[in-house]
Amino acid sequence: MRLAPFKKGSIDPDADAVEAVDPTYGARHIAIIMDGNGRWAKSKHLPRALGHKKGVEAVRDIVRVAGEMGIEALTLYAFSSENWSRPADEVSDLMGLLRQYIQSDIDEFDENGIRLKVIGNYKALDSDIVQLIDNALERTAGNDRMTLAIALNYGAQDEMLRVVQNIAKSVKLGTVEPDQISIDQLSGAMDTAGMPPLDLLIRTSGELRLSNFLLWQAAYSELYFTDTLWPDFDKEELQRALKSFGDRDRRFGGR
Ligand code: IPE
Ligand code: IPE
Ligand code: MG
Repeated sequence: MRLAPFKKGSIDPDADAVEAVDPTYGARHIAIIMDGNGRWAKSKHLPRALGHKKGVEAVRDIVRVAGEMGIEALTLYAFSSENWSRPADEVSDLMGLLRQYIQSDIDEFDENGIRLKVIGNYKALDSDIVQLIDNALERTAGNDRMTLAIALNYGAQDEMLRVVQNIAKSVKLGTVEPDQISIDQLSGAMDTAGMPPLDLLIRTSGELRLSNFLLWQAAYSELYFTDTLWPDFDKEELQRALKSFGDRDRRFGGR
Protein backbone atom coordinates (compact mmCIF):
# COMPACT_ATOMS: atom_id res chain seq x y z
CA MET A 1 0.00 0.00 0.00
CA ARG A 2 1.40 3.37 -1.01
CA LEU A 3 1.27 6.30 1.37
CA ALA A 4 -1.18 9.01 0.42
CA PRO A 5 0.35 12.44 -0.08
CA PHE A 6 -0.33 14.56 3.00
CA LYS A 7 0.64 18.12 2.19
CA LYS A 8 1.62 20.30 5.11
CA GLY A 9 -1.02 22.94 5.70
CA SER A 10 -3.70 20.96 3.88
CA ILE A 11 -7.21 20.67 5.28
CA ASP A 12 -7.49 17.56 7.40
CA PRO A 13 -10.94 16.10 6.64
CA ASP A 14 -10.99 14.42 10.06
CA ALA A 15 -10.28 17.58 12.03
CA ASP A 16 -13.13 18.99 14.10
CA ALA A 17 -12.68 22.52 12.85
CA VAL A 18 -12.25 23.17 9.17
CA GLU A 19 -8.96 24.97 9.42
CA ALA A 20 -5.62 24.57 7.80
CA VAL A 21 -3.43 22.60 10.21
CA ASP A 22 -0.14 20.85 10.02
CA PRO A 23 -1.09 17.36 11.27
CA THR A 24 2.30 17.03 12.97
CA TYR A 25 1.95 20.34 14.87
CA GLY A 26 5.63 20.81 14.15
CA ALA A 27 6.74 17.54 15.74
CA ARG A 28 9.62 16.17 13.70
CA HIS A 29 10.54 13.16 15.81
CA ILE A 30 8.09 11.05 17.82
CA ALA A 31 8.98 8.03 19.93
CA ILE A 32 6.53 5.52 21.36
CA ILE A 33 6.82 3.06 24.24
CA MET A 34 4.38 0.53 22.83
CA ASP A 35 3.12 -1.03 26.05
CA GLY A 36 0.08 -3.10 26.99
CA ASN A 37 -0.03 -6.01 24.55
CA GLY A 38 -0.23 -8.51 27.40
CA ARG A 39 -3.06 -6.69 29.18
CA TRP A 40 -4.93 -6.29 25.89
CA ALA A 41 -4.81 -10.06 25.37
CA LYS A 42 -5.75 -10.76 29.00
CA SER A 43 -8.77 -8.47 28.81
CA LYS A 44 -10.03 -10.54 25.88
CA HIS A 45 -9.09 -13.91 27.41
CA LEU A 46 -6.59 -14.48 24.62
CA PRO A 47 -3.02 -15.77 24.84
CA ARG A 48 -0.32 -13.08 25.27
CA ALA A 49 1.12 -14.04 21.88
CA LEU A 50 -2.06 -12.76 20.21
CA GLY A 51 -1.65 -9.46 22.02
CA HIS A 52 1.81 -9.12 20.50
CA LYS A 53 0.46 -10.11 17.07
CA LYS A 54 -2.22 -7.42 17.31
CA GLY A 55 0.53 -5.06 18.46
CA VAL A 56 2.36 -5.60 15.17
CA GLU A 57 -0.81 -4.61 13.28
CA ALA A 58 -0.92 -1.39 15.28
CA VAL A 59 2.73 -0.77 14.37
CA ARG A 60 1.92 -1.21 10.69
CA ASP A 61 -0.98 1.28 10.88
CA ILE A 62 0.94 3.88 12.87
CA VAL A 63 3.96 3.72 10.56
CA ARG A 64 1.65 4.42 7.59
CA VAL A 65 -0.19 7.22 9.34
CA ALA A 66 3.01 8.88 10.60
CA GLY A 67 4.45 8.75 7.09
CA GLU A 68 1.29 10.27 5.62
CA MET A 69 1.29 13.04 8.20
CA GLY A 70 4.83 14.05 7.30
CA ILE A 71 6.55 13.00 10.55
CA GLU A 72 10.29 12.95 9.81
CA ALA A 73 11.27 10.29 12.34
CA LEU A 74 9.40 7.68 14.34
CA THR A 75 11.18 5.62 16.99
CA LEU A 76 9.38 2.56 18.35
CA TYR A 77 10.37 0.63 21.49
CA ALA A 78 9.89 -2.98 20.41
CA PHE A 79 12.18 -4.98 22.71
CA SER A 80 14.16 -3.69 25.66
CA SER A 81 17.46 -4.96 26.99
CA GLU A 82 15.46 -6.00 30.07
CA ASN A 83 12.80 -7.92 28.10
CA TRP A 84 15.17 -10.93 27.91
CA SER A 85 14.04 -11.67 31.45
CA ARG A 86 10.60 -12.70 30.15
CA PRO A 87 9.72 -16.39 29.78
CA ALA A 88 11.62 -18.03 26.90
CA ASP A 89 8.46 -18.81 24.93
CA GLU A 90 7.37 -15.17 25.00
CA VAL A 91 10.83 -13.98 23.88
CA SER A 92 10.67 -16.54 21.10
CA ASP A 93 7.16 -15.37 20.04
CA LEU A 94 8.41 -11.77 19.91
CA MET A 95 11.45 -12.72 17.84
CA GLY A 96 9.23 -14.72 15.47
CA LEU A 97 6.96 -11.71 14.97
CA LEU A 98 9.98 -9.49 14.34
CA ARG A 99 11.26 -11.89 11.69
CA GLN A 100 7.87 -11.95 9.97
CA TYR A 101 7.39 -8.19 10.19
CA ILE A 102 10.69 -7.31 8.56
CA GLN A 103 10.11 -9.77 5.74
CA SER A 104 6.49 -8.83 5.08
CA ASP A 105 6.86 -5.05 5.31
CA ILE A 106 10.23 -4.31 3.76
CA ASP A 107 8.76 -3.81 0.26
CA GLU A 108 6.21 -1.36 1.59
CA PHE A 109 8.88 0.59 3.50
CA ASP A 110 10.93 0.89 0.38
CA GLU A 111 8.00 1.89 -1.86
CA ASN A 112 7.02 4.58 0.62
CA GLY A 113 10.46 6.09 1.05
CA ILE A 114 10.91 4.84 4.60
CA ARG A 115 14.47 4.51 5.81
CA LEU A 116 14.80 1.81 8.42
CA LYS A 117 17.12 2.30 11.38
CA VAL A 118 17.67 0.11 14.39
CA ILE A 119 18.72 1.41 17.78
CA GLY A 120 20.01 -0.88 20.50
CA ASN A 121 22.47 -3.73 20.41
CA TYR A 122 20.64 -5.72 17.72
CA LYS A 123 23.75 -7.70 16.80
CA ALA A 124 23.02 -9.83 19.86
CA LEU A 125 19.79 -11.14 18.29
CA ASP A 126 19.67 -14.46 16.39
CA SER A 127 22.00 -14.36 13.39
CA ASP A 128 19.19 -14.78 10.82
CA ILE A 129 17.40 -11.75 12.27
CA VAL A 130 20.64 -9.74 12.22
CA GLN A 131 20.98 -10.68 8.56
CA LEU A 132 17.39 -9.63 7.75
CA ILE A 133 17.94 -6.33 9.55
CA ASP A 134 21.25 -5.63 7.84
CA ASN A 135 19.68 -6.30 4.43
CA ALA A 136 16.72 -4.02 5.24
CA LEU A 137 19.04 -1.26 6.50
CA GLU A 138 21.07 -1.43 3.34
CA ARG A 139 18.06 -1.59 1.04
CA THR A 140 16.33 1.44 2.57
CA ALA A 141 19.45 3.52 3.31
CA GLY A 142 18.75 5.97 0.47
CA ASN A 143 15.11 6.66 1.42
CA ASP A 144 14.31 10.04 2.89
CA ARG A 145 10.59 10.42 3.46
CA MET A 146 10.60 9.15 7.05
CA THR A 147 13.11 7.40 9.28
CA LEU A 148 11.60 4.48 11.18
CA ALA A 149 13.89 3.57 14.06
CA ILE A 150 13.05 0.32 15.79
CA ALA A 151 14.51 -0.16 19.26
CA LEU A 152 15.65 -3.76 19.61
CA ASN A 153 17.57 -5.05 22.60
CA TYR A 154 17.64 -1.37 23.48
CA GLY A 155 18.29 0.12 26.89
CA ALA A 156 19.26 3.77 27.36
CA GLN A 157 21.76 2.89 30.08
CA ASP A 158 23.34 0.29 27.81
CA GLU A 159 23.47 2.87 24.99
CA MET A 160 25.22 5.40 27.26
CA LEU A 161 27.59 2.75 28.55
CA ARG A 162 28.60 1.86 24.97
CA VAL A 163 29.18 5.55 24.21
CA VAL A 164 31.30 6.02 27.35
CA GLN A 165 33.34 2.91 26.57
CA ASN A 166 34.07 4.11 23.04
CA ILE A 167 35.08 7.57 24.22
CA ALA A 168 37.25 6.07 26.97
CA LYS A 169 39.04 4.03 24.30
CA SER A 170 39.70 7.18 22.26
CA VAL A 171 41.00 8.98 25.35
CA LYS A 172 43.30 6.05 26.09
CA LEU A 173 44.61 6.16 22.52
CA GLY A 174 45.19 9.88 22.94
CA THR A 175 42.89 10.85 20.03
CA VAL A 176 40.39 12.65 22.31
CA GLU A 177 41.08 15.15 25.09
CA PRO A 178 38.65 14.63 28.00
CA ASP A 179 38.02 18.39 28.32
CA GLN A 180 37.01 18.59 24.68
CA ILE A 181 34.18 16.07 24.84
CA SER A 182 31.02 18.04 24.09
CA ILE A 183 27.29 17.53 24.40
CA ASP A 184 26.99 17.58 20.60
CA GLN A 185 29.63 14.90 20.36
CA LEU A 186 27.78 12.72 22.85
CA SER A 187 24.48 13.24 20.97
CA GLY A 188 26.25 12.24 17.79
CA ALA A 189 27.58 9.09 19.41
CA MET A 190 24.15 7.88 20.56
CA ASP A 191 22.27 5.25 18.53
CA THR A 192 19.90 8.02 17.36
CA ALA A 193 22.73 9.96 15.68
CA GLY A 194 21.51 11.89 12.67
CA MET A 195 17.85 11.91 13.75
CA PRO A 196 16.05 15.17 14.59
CA PRO A 197 15.76 16.02 18.32
CA LEU A 198 13.05 14.00 20.07
CA ASP A 199 9.96 16.21 20.24
CA LEU A 200 7.31 13.93 21.66
CA LEU A 201 7.57 10.74 23.71
CA ILE A 202 4.36 8.73 24.00
CA ARG A 203 3.70 5.80 26.32
CA THR A 204 0.59 3.68 26.09
CA SER A 205 -1.11 1.47 28.70
CA GLY A 206 -1.22 3.92 31.60
CA GLU A 207 2.25 3.26 33.02
CA LEU A 208 3.98 6.49 34.01
CA ARG A 209 7.63 5.58 33.54
CA LEU A 210 10.33 5.56 30.86
CA SER A 211 11.54 1.97 31.37
CA ASN A 212 15.09 2.79 30.22
CA PHE A 213 14.01 4.38 26.91
CA LEU A 214 15.84 7.33 25.31
CA LEU A 215 16.97 8.84 28.62
CA TRP A 216 19.51 11.11 26.92
CA GLN A 217 17.29 12.11 23.99
CA ALA A 218 14.23 12.88 26.14
CA ALA A 219 15.97 15.73 28.00
CA TYR A 220 13.51 18.30 26.56
CA SER A 221 10.91 16.09 24.91
CA GLU A 222 7.26 16.58 25.67
CA LEU A 223 5.77 13.51 27.37
CA TYR A 224 2.34 12.08 26.61
CA PHE A 225 0.76 9.20 28.50
CA THR A 226 -2.45 7.44 27.52
CA ASP A 227 -4.34 4.57 29.16
CA THR A 228 -5.01 3.06 25.73
CA LEU A 229 -3.31 -0.31 25.35
CA TRP A 230 -0.90 -0.48 22.42
CA PRO A 231 -3.01 -2.80 20.18
CA ASP A 232 -5.83 -0.22 20.37
CA PHE A 233 -3.60 2.77 19.57
CA ASP A 234 -4.73 4.17 16.22
CA LYS A 235 -4.69 7.26 14.01
CA GLU A 236 -7.13 9.16 16.25
CA GLU A 237 -4.95 8.44 19.28
CA LEU A 238 -1.87 9.72 17.46
CA GLN A 239 -3.77 12.83 16.39
CA ARG A 240 -4.80 13.40 20.01
CA ALA A 241 -1.19 13.10 21.17
CA LEU A 242 -0.01 15.51 18.47
CA LYS A 243 -2.77 17.98 19.30
CA SER A 244 -1.66 17.89 22.93
CA PHE A 245 1.93 18.46 21.76
CA GLY A 246 0.73 21.43 19.72
CA ASP A 247 -0.85 22.97 22.82
CA ARG A 248 2.35 22.77 24.88
CA ASP A 249 4.54 25.77 25.61
CA ARG A 250 8.09 24.49 25.17
CA ARG A 251 10.50 26.75 27.01
CA PHE A 252 13.76 24.79 27.13
CA GLY A 253 14.67 26.50 30.36
CA GLY A 254 14.02 29.99 29.00
CA ARG A 255 11.06 32.10 30.09
C1 IPE B 1 4.59 -4.38 25.21
O1 IPE B 1 3.54 -5.09 25.79
C2 IPE B 1 5.40 -5.25 24.30
C3 IPE B 1 6.76 -5.53 24.80
C4 IPE B 1 7.29 -5.12 25.91
C5 IPE B 1 7.57 -6.38 23.96
P1 IPE B 1 3.73 -5.94 27.12
O2 IPE B 1 4.08 -7.34 26.74
O3 IPE B 1 4.71 -5.29 28.03
O4 IPE B 1 2.28 -5.89 27.72
P2 IPE B 1 1.86 -5.69 29.23
O5 IPE B 1 2.59 -4.48 29.74
O6 IPE B 1 2.27 -6.93 29.97
O7 IPE B 1 0.39 -5.49 29.19
C1 IPE C 1 8.80 -1.25 27.88
O1 IPE C 1 7.72 -1.99 28.31
C2 IPE C 1 9.50 -1.95 26.75
C3 IPE C 1 8.75 -2.00 25.49
C4 IPE C 1 7.59 -1.45 25.25
C5 IPE C 1 9.42 -2.71 24.44
P1 IPE C 1 7.84 -3.04 29.51
O2 IPE C 1 6.51 -3.67 29.65
O3 IPE C 1 9.00 -3.93 29.31
O4 IPE C 1 8.17 -2.07 30.73
P2 IPE C 1 7.93 -2.26 32.30
O5 IPE C 1 8.45 -3.63 32.66
O6 IPE C 1 6.46 -2.15 32.53
O7 IPE C 1 8.67 -1.14 32.94
MG1 MG D 1 4.55 -3.98 29.53
